[in-house]
Amino acid sequence: MKVRACHKAEIKYTALFLFLALAVLIFVLHNIETLEVWYKVNSSSSLPKPTTNRHRRHEFCTFEPLSPEDAQEERLLLESTAWPETPLLPSPLSLEETSDPAHSTFIITLGKEGRQWQIGDQLEVTIKICDFQGRPKKTGGDVLLARLHNVGLGAGVAGKVVDHLNGIYTAVFSLLWEGSAQVEVTLVHPSEAVTVLQRLSVEQPDRIYFNSVFRSGHRSQTTACNVCLRPTQQPQCNYTDVRTGEPWFCYKPQNMSCNARITHSMGQFKQNLKAEEEKLFDSRVNMKVHIRASGPADITVLPKMEGQPNVESSLVKSGPAGYYYQGVWHALDGSTVHEFNTVTITQCLKGKVVYMFGDSTVRQFFEYLNTELPDLKEFDLHNERKAGPFISLDYKNNIFVKYRFHGPPIRIVPVPTSELRYIANELDGITGGSNTVVIFCIWAHFGTFPMEIYIRRLQNIRRAVVRLQDRAPDTLIIIRTGNPKELTPIVALTNSDWHSYQADKVLRAMFKGLNVNFVNAWEMTLAHHLPHDLHPKPPIIKNMINVIMSYMCPQKGG
Ligand SMILES: *[C@@H]1O[C@H](CO)[C@@H](O)[C@H](O)[C@H]1NC(C)=O
Ligand SMILES: *[C@@H]1O[C@H](CO)[C@@H](O)[C@H](O)[C@H]1NC(C)=O
Ligand SMILES: *[C@@H]1O[C@H](CO)[C@@H](O)[C@H](O)[C@H]1NC(C)=O
Repeated sequence: MKVRACHKAEIKYTALFLFLALAVLIFVLHNIETLEVWYKVNSSSSLPKPTTNRHRRHEFCTFEPLSPEDAQEERLLLESTAWPETPLLPSPLSLEETSDPAHSTFIITLGKEGRQWQIGDQLEVTIKICDFQGRPKKTGGDVLLARLHNVGLGAGVAGKVVDHLNGIYTAVFSLLWEGSAQVEVTLVHPSEAVTVLQRLSVEQPDRIYFNSVFRSGHRSQTTACNVCLRPTQQPQCNYTDVRTGEPWFCYKPQNMSCNARITHSMGQFKQNLKAEEEKLFDSRVNMKVHIRASGPADITVLPKMEGQPNVESSLVKSGPAGYYYQGVWHALDGSTVHEFNTVTITQCLKGKVVYMFGDSTVRQFFEYLNTELPDLKEFDLHNERKAGPFISLDYKNNIFVKYRFHGPPIRIVPVPTSELRYIANELDGITGGSNTVVIFCIWAHFGTFPMEIYIRRLQNIRRAVVRLQDRAPDTLIIIRTGNPKELTPIVALTNSDWHSYQADKVLRAMFKGLNVNFVNAWEMTLAHHLPHDLHPKPPIIKNMINVIMSYMCPQKGG
């Protein structure tokens, strides 16, 4: 019955959508890549505006003043990543009026009778979000992911989702292979869950806390540490990095000096949600759940026919970064990805120094090379498997590979404070040159904090990248982006795809126009048929290695 309620509304909503699509065609300027750009383009529009600053108060996060340019950039980035206004949560919260994937549907649009799809066309899919009572939602802000794929062909491509701010969304896909292609739409979070996540980033940026052990002679104490440390009676030690200004604080141990701090580690996650709010993060109900099609979910793509112009979406101009075909990633950003094997990887790495900085998702590359290359041997530095730093050497081919985790915040097993290094400072210690490759990634440990923390970290890293390339322009810089992951309630509350997606946009904007290369882990994970995973599985890593090696050795390949 309730499902029907939403279905009945379909005709009306198709009409509404057509009207909206027309309105969009009329109003929208060119170069529309994302909703956020659209907001910026037309802020006088009668459509609802995104959240401006409802949540932008950070009581106990200290933000040191920035230079006028950096402050301006921070403002623009915050604006461009502003999420659409999401519903205020009534108290007591009832799920009834929140977005429900089971009542929501998608339908392939522009699919008029006899329509034939051909390679190079763009496919549009209309997504209609309904609540648990089957009533169409009237506001936007739901987090959706879309993918077009064909498991048999090992083919897949990520779609771009446009939020019309009225419960209707469009996903746009590029058609890149011949044969059948199936649409998959996933509700990652209902908009109401975003309201919760936004509130948490202000009220509980310390919901993951960290520990440090202090030692002096035979005495030792452990205190809590964080970027944003709540003021209490207890004095604090200020470990703000003098070179970068990166903030870090610990409660001062009693009768001990701040200099006595010897380790850093992750403490715990402090769960502090109301019971009803927890229901917004249920992976059986409304977290990363597929939305079904109200018609066919498949199309057949024909080869490109002579003289026929391709159908382009009016909503999305920029295409995907690449796509899979037969399990192999093909880039569409102008670069060519070659396939590499053990022999050609070794040839490519010959004589090179490779620095990897970041979280465990860049460590996967270090592990992959160690496993695959027979002559590359890890030197035992007696460090924790999940921490590092690690060094691997291939004497025969003169290859040096080093991995080091990024500075705090980092959720990690206990590590000596002497190993806590910020990427920017490490980059300053590199001579650089044509044999030097730097691969870094920094995203997964920032999901509990206001975006300012991440923006400032990237500004510091970018300054160091610019300095490095000024003194050694041939230094190759490769940045791995974040990726969607399996979501449990704890992961969602501390490292949600919603946060990662925005961090991804900040990262790209930050390095735009610089001589750096990206491994688009976001799309490479989204487009692949394997389940989302914080640590993508070997078939995806192998493709990422192909991308990396292709930047290093554009002519080679296996
Ligand atoms: C913005 O939208 C309004 C209608 O809501 C329209 O009149 C105006 O021309 C649009 N501006 C731009 C820059 O598209
Ligand atoms: C921490 O130290 C830094 C640099 O030494 C200083 O700029 C900052 O104001 C200090 N922060 C607090 C909260 O004391
Ligand atoms: C610190 O020193 C004071 C006074 O010397 C003492 O009363 C207190 O117990 C000490 N605290 C710790 C944790 O050692």
